[in-house]
Amino acid sequence: MKWLGNKFSQKTQTGEYSHEVFSPSGRVRFMLGVRDGGVFYSLKRDEKVIVRESKLGLDFVGEESFGRKFKLLAVKGQEVNSKWETVFGEEKVVVNKYHEGEFRLGCLEDERGVIVVRVRVFDDGIGFRYEIAERGVEQLTVKEELTEFNVDQNGRAWWIPAYQPDRYEYLYQRSQVVAMDKPVHTPLTIKTTSGAYVSIHEAALYDYGAMVVRRHGDTLRAEVTPMANGDAAQIELPFNTPWRVVMVASRAMDLAVNRIMLNLNEPAREDFAWVKPMKYLGIWWSLHIGEQTWHAGDRHGATTENTMEYIDYAAKLGIRAVLIEGWNEGWEGDWLECGKDNKFTLAYPDFNMKKVADYAKEKGVEIVGHHETVGFIENYESQWPEAFEFYKDHGVKYIKLGYAGTRMLIDGTREFHHCQPGVRHYQRVAEIAAKYGMMLNIHEPIKGTGIERTWPNIMTREGARGQEYEGGGMTPEHHTIIPFTRGLAGGFDYTPGIFDIHSNGVKTVWSTLARQLALFVTIYSSWQMAADRPRFYEGNPAFKFVQDVPADWQKTVPLVGEIGECWVVARQDRESDDWYVGGVTNEDARAVSVYFEFLDEGCEYEAEIYRDGCEQEAEGVTWVGAEGRAHFRENPLAVVIEKRRVKKGDRLEVWMAEGGGFAVRVKRVE
Ligand code: NOJ
Repeated sequence: MKWLGNKFSQKTQTGEYSHEVFSPSGRVRFMLGVRDGGVFYSLKRDEKVIVRESKLGLDFVGEESFGRKFKLLAVKGQEVNSKWETVFGEEKVVVNKYHEGEFRLGCLEDERGVIVVRVRVFDDGIGFRYEIAERGVEQLTVKEELTEFNVDQNGRAWWIPAYQPDRYEYLYQRSQVVAMDKPVHTPLTIKTTSGAYVSIHEAALYDYGAMVVRRHGDTLRAEVTPMANGDAAQIELPFNTPWRVVMVASRAMDLAVNRIMLNLNEPAREDFAWVKPMKYLGIWWSLHIGEQTWHAGDRHGATTENTMEYIDYAAKLGIRAVLIEGWNEGWEGDWLECGKDNKFTLAYPDFNMKKVADYAKEKGVEIVGHHETVGFIENYESQWPEAFEFYKDHGVKYIKLGYAGTRMLIDGTREFHHCQPGVRHYQRVAEIAAKYGMMLNIHEPIKGTGIERTWPNIMTREGARGQEYEGGGMTPEHHTIIPFTRGLAGGFDYTPGIFDIHSNGVKTVWSTLARQLALFVTIYSSWQMAADRPRFYEGNPAFKFVQDVPADWQKTVPLVGEIGECWVVARQDRESDDWYVGGVTNEDARAVSVYFEFLDEGCEYEAEIYRDGCEQEAEGVTWVGAEGRAHFRENPLAVVIEKRRVKKGDRLEVWMAEGGGFAVRVKRVE
C-alpha cells in the first residue's frame, strides 16, 4: 500500500465541505466538513444524494466530546486495490478496492484529544470509523454515539425492532423511514425515492455494543446498545470503533452481493484451513414439533440408539454430520429457567457419548455438539475448558451454540445480548473454540459484522427468524426480504429442507417443496441443515438436490431480485465446474427468466430442474409428492423434476407458485 498524500482526499472547491474522497470509479463521493467545532459528512452516488449532511461524533463521560469542539488537523489518503481468498463463503476471491481518507481531528482547546475519522470509499458504498488515540487516561466511557445517517425520510425501509425479547427473530416491517417508530437493528435497508438501494450496517464489531439505528426527528442516529448501567461502552485506549457502513446499489440484487462488510475486517492471523463447510442432519425438528423431547423420558430424542440411527441415515444419505440436541442434563421443565444450571459434560443416563462418537467415526460421520447456554454466561464459562475438552476427547469439531432467553446474565446483571459485555462473550467463545480447533454455528448470536474473515471458525449463525417459526410465524415474503437485509450480515443457519410440509400439524410449513430446495441456494450458510427427520428423505427423488448442493461457493451471481418480491441467484460450487440456481417468490405466483450468461463459453451443461408443478405440464414429466398446480397452502408437494441441455446464452423460463420456488443443478457435461 502506498500513501498518496492528498490525491484521494481533495479539498473541495466550494461549499461547506472542506474535503472529499472519491471511490475508484468516481461514482461514490464522501465529503467531510467542520463547522463551529462540529464534524459532518455526506455521501453521494452518481451525483445523487444518499446521505445528506450528517453529524459525526462520540460523547464521553467526563471528557470533551468528539464532534462538538473540533478542528481538522491533517488529512491523508491512500488507494488499495487487492484481492483476498476466503476460507469459505459466497465467493472464493473477494476484490477489495477503495480509496481511503484519514482525517485527524482535534479539540480546539486541547490537542491531546485527537480522533481520527478513517473512511474507505468503495464503488458500492463506504465504511468509516473513529480511532481514538492514546491520551492521559487508559480508559474512557462512551456515553453515546452521535453519528447520523440523514437518509431520504420518504424512502421505504425494511426493518426489525431492537431491544425486543426475541432478539433479531422478527418478520421485517416495511414502512417509510419517517414512520419507523422504533429503534431498529442493522442491516437496515432502504429504497430511496430516487430509486437507490441503501443499507446501513456495521463491520468488525469487537469490544463495543452493537449499533442500533433510531430516528430522531428528521434524521437517523447510531445508538450503541447500552449496558444495564446506561453507558454505551467502556473502552481501553487506543481504540478503534467498529466501522459504520453504508452500502449503495442501483439494483436490489447488486446490494445482495455487497462485500464491504467482509473487506473492512482484518485477515485471519492464524491458519484456519481446518475449517470445513458442510451439510448436517439433526435431532432437531422432531423436538420442535413435539414428536420427541430435549429432556429424558419416554420420548427422549438424544438417546444413544436414536443418535446411532441418525448416524446411519447420514451415512446412507451422504450427509456429512449429525446434530445432537438434548443429550446433556438440564432440559427439564421450563428449560429457559433451568438453563442456569446446565451441565455441558454430563449426559442423560440414556445417552453414551463414547459409544455414539465411536459409531460416528466408524461410519465417517461428524458429530455436531450443542451448548445451549440459555444466556447464563457465568454458568457456561465456569465450565470452560472442560466443556470443549469433553467434545475434543470425543472427536467433535462442530458445535452449535444457543443463547435462548430474552436477556443474558453476565456478571450477575441482566444485559441485552448485543451490548458490550455480550459482544465480549461471543468473542471469548470464538477464541476458545478456535484454540480447540472447533467450528461454531451460533444461535441467538450477536449479528454478523464480517468477523468470520478474521475468525473463520465462526462459520454461521442464526440472528433472524428461521424455519423453526413455521406453524404461523413465517411468511413466504420473509425469504424474499432476507437476502437484502439480514443476508448482508453473512451466513444464516435458516435450517431449510422440511419435506414433511404438514409436520404433524404442529408446524405446517408455508412453502412448496420445490422452495425448500431453493432455500439451500437462496439463503447462504456454510453449514446447511437438511432439517427434517431423515425418514422423510428416504426414497424421495427431490432429496437428490439436497445431496448434490454444496455449502461453499466459488462465485455468486445475482440474477433477479426485488425486496419482498423475489430473489433468484446462481452460485458456482467451489469444488467443481457445476452451478446451482435457486429462486423464491413471495405469496404471488410469477415466472422468471434465467439467462445462463454465467456459464463457460463452449461448454455443455445438463440442467436438473426441480420446480413447482404448473397447470399445464407436458406428458411424461416426473412428478414428486403430488401432481397438479402447486401452491404453498393448497398443493405444496407438487414438484416436477426435468432435465435439459443448456449452454451459455440460453434462457430458461421458470414458473413459481404462490409461496413457491425452484432449484436447478447445472452440471458440466464432459
Ligand atoms: C433455539 C434455537 O434456534 C434452536 O435451533 C434450538 O433447537 C433451541 N433454541 C434449543 O437450543
